[in-house]
Amino acid sequence: MLKNLPQREVDPLWCLLDKFNADQRKNKIDLIVGVYRNESGKTPVMQVVQDAEQLLANKAESKSYKQLSGNTKFNRQIAQFLLGDNNKLDSQCTIQTVGGSGALRVLADFIFCSSRNAIIWNTDPGYINHRPIMEAAGLKIKSFRWQQKHGQLNIAACFADLEKAKKGDIILLHGCCHNPTGIDPTLEQWQAFADYCQYKGLIPFIDMAYQGFGESPEEDAAGLRLFINQLDLVLVAASCSKNMGLYCERTGAAMVITTNTQQLHNIRTVLERITRASYSMPPEHGAAIASLLFDNIKPWFDELSACRDRIVNVRQALGNIFKELNAPTSLHIISQQKGMFSLLPLTAEQMIILREEFAIYGTSNGRINLAGLQKSQVRTLAEALISVVKS
Ligand SMILES: Cc1ncc(COP(=O)(O)O)c(C=O)c1O
Repeated sequence: MLKNLPQREVDPLWCLLDKFNADQRKNKIDLIVGVYRNESGKTPVMQVVQDAEQLLANKAESKSYKQLSGNTKFNRQIAQFLLGDNNKLDSQCTIQTVGGSGALRVLADFIFCSSRNAIIWNTDPGYINHRPIMEAAGLKIKSFRWQQKHGQLNIAACFADLEKAKKGDIILLHGCCHNPTGIDPTLEQWQAFADYCQYKGLIPFIDMAYQGFGESPEEDAAGLRLFINQLDLVLVAASCSKNMGLYCERTGAAMVITTNTQQLHNIRTVLERITRASYSMPPEHGAAIASLLFDNIKPWFDELSACRDRIVNVRQALGNIFKELNAPTSLHIISQQKGMFSLLPLTAEQMIILREEFAIYGTSNGRINLAGLQKSQVRTLAEALISVVKS
């Protein structure tokens, strides 16, 4: 068997991290991995999470199996968090998943079950793991351009590329904080997407991995809620990795919302069959923590907004230095983008120069994680970027 095992390259992201770890320079800056870091460069456990864990440890009763769809209370709470105070709560089926990635895969399998010939339309550039997940489920994937024009998403380019999409195809969108570009649609543009989906018969599949990282959780869900109010079927993959800092607890949810409520029971059964044939049921610990955070939302929101403010401040500081140093216009846009990521206007070769000459590490496609930057490093990054762009 092993003779026939295909040769695969190690994931380039992890190779880059190895390079970073081996770099002996004291001034090196890691903007590679997509995790939040505080001003000290740490990815901390939120205080609200620590308190919840303490509470859970004290009252632990049993580790017996839970439902196939995970923690029922968590499922209801995360659905509410995504939908807001919306009567659509009766029109959805939500199951707890193994992180946002698990939700993406379960929903990809779900799509394959009923419409295996549907094309998944994915943003270009897009999240590095969307394609492998969709393809692993047997789905075909095509892309549409996701670029800015005059500081906004160039929606005309999206629609031009989506022209070939046919009824029943799926459009995979990032609910907020687009990874890797940081370019989010305006509310009017979300509305245009919803109208377009309705007109073409496309099914939106919203990946909500950063709710609360761009703006408030309510504002970040505004696009998603437009879709839900207008369309008959919406798929949502949600993650608690970033907004609760539960990364390694692998906590997320897959949600199907439909006006065809008679189908909800069967939808649940199909979703549960998919997980049963894979990992059976999701781990409880992260969902139990998340549920306690949802029970008492204010202190969690306070910590979440502190994370968000830090990223916004880093972007603003960078923007101010760009102005002061009269940076090329292609760089100024970074200060307007949303969430942790920006895609630099640099080629793969320029990203190598950034790494080799300035000890600043981003991925080869130009993505940097601004949450990896400390205040004291903002000027260093700004000057390095100006130098590389001009060179
Ligand atoms: C756009 C997007 N979707 C999904 C995920 C996966 O999240 P999780 O770690 O919860 O699996 C990520 C993680 O970086 C992401 O950026």
